[in-house]
Amino acid sequence: MITASAPGKVILFGEHSVVYGRPAIAAPVFNVSASAQIEAGGPGFRVIAPDLARDFWLRDALPDEPLAAAIRAALAHFTLDELPPGTLTVQSTIPLGRGLGSGAAISAAVVRALAGFLGRSLSPADVSALVFEVEKLHHGTPSGIDNTVIAFAQPVYFIKERPIQRLRVARPFTLVIGDTGVVAPTRRVVGALRQRWQANPQRYEGYFDEIAVIARHAKLAIEQEVVAVSALGKLMDENQEILEAMGVSSPELAGLIAAARAAGAWGAKLSGAGGGGNMIALVPPEIVAAVQTALVAAGASGVIVTEIR
Ligand code: PMV
Repeated sequence: MITASAPGKVILFGEHSVVYGRPAIAAPVFNVSASAQIEAGGPGFRVIAPDLARDFWLRDALPDEPLAAAIRAALAHFTLDELPPGTLTVQSTIPLGRGLGSGAAISAAVVRALAGFLGRSLSPADVSALVFEVEKLHHGTPSGIDNTVIAFAQPVYFIKERPIQRLRVARPFTLVIGDTGVVAPTRRVVGALRQRWQANPQRYEGYFDEIAVIARHAKLAIEQEVVAVSALGKLMDENQEILEAMGVSSPELAGLIAAARAAGAWGAKLSGAGGGGNMIALVPPEIVAAVQTALVAAGASGVIVTEIR
């Protein structure tokens, strides 16, 4: 039995503007993960993904089936036409479609398991490139940040189409991640923003530039011992203000963000595409429980506490 996994992720700064060439910061979230197992044998290659309500034979897969796309991308990479018989089982504890990288993590776990099954090896850069192929099929114009942070499983300072820059975290910090429970497909939120950008490029380019400045400051704050961790919270609040002006927040996100701030968070913002999905709050360790309680009281459908290091 071959098994492989990949973590979830949060975007700390720069979602959306990263699609337009500005820098962003993301980090893996190891509390949640996707896993893939392959057992050899059987009459063909079968794929079972209970969380995605999928169970199919690879030979019968529809052209737009994301799991089959990940398998085909890996086969093409290994210059193989087909797989030996086996059963691939995919599971994930990452909430689906809520900005925590579930799609990219599932693809990463699948291509890693296939490499093991075929006795081949894949570097993190290979995994990232294969997952990016799948992301492109399903998300249109991905920046590449999800596949990068998930494949390398390290905090990154990311600029589209540039080599990965690992981010050194001078002092670990705690994030509370609150789920609105609202599923907002990334493709839809990114597409709607693109239309607003096309209608008013100057205004949106201005927003993207402002976020770029915030992301650069945040990089320094994360890397340097001398800057107080709490300073990051203020940058998160500033980033959120611009995301709201860009129209990618939502009343549910705003409610959770306000609740976290009222409970004493240093700062809070949406994370990922927005429109729903998750928010993150930077909190002093001693008030984690209070922020968790406040988020649940404000309607969060799930809360994850994670340390970024
Ligand atoms: O997949 P999500 O919801 O984490 O969003 C990805 C972040 C965006 O910047 C909105 C899109 C992208 O491709 O970078």
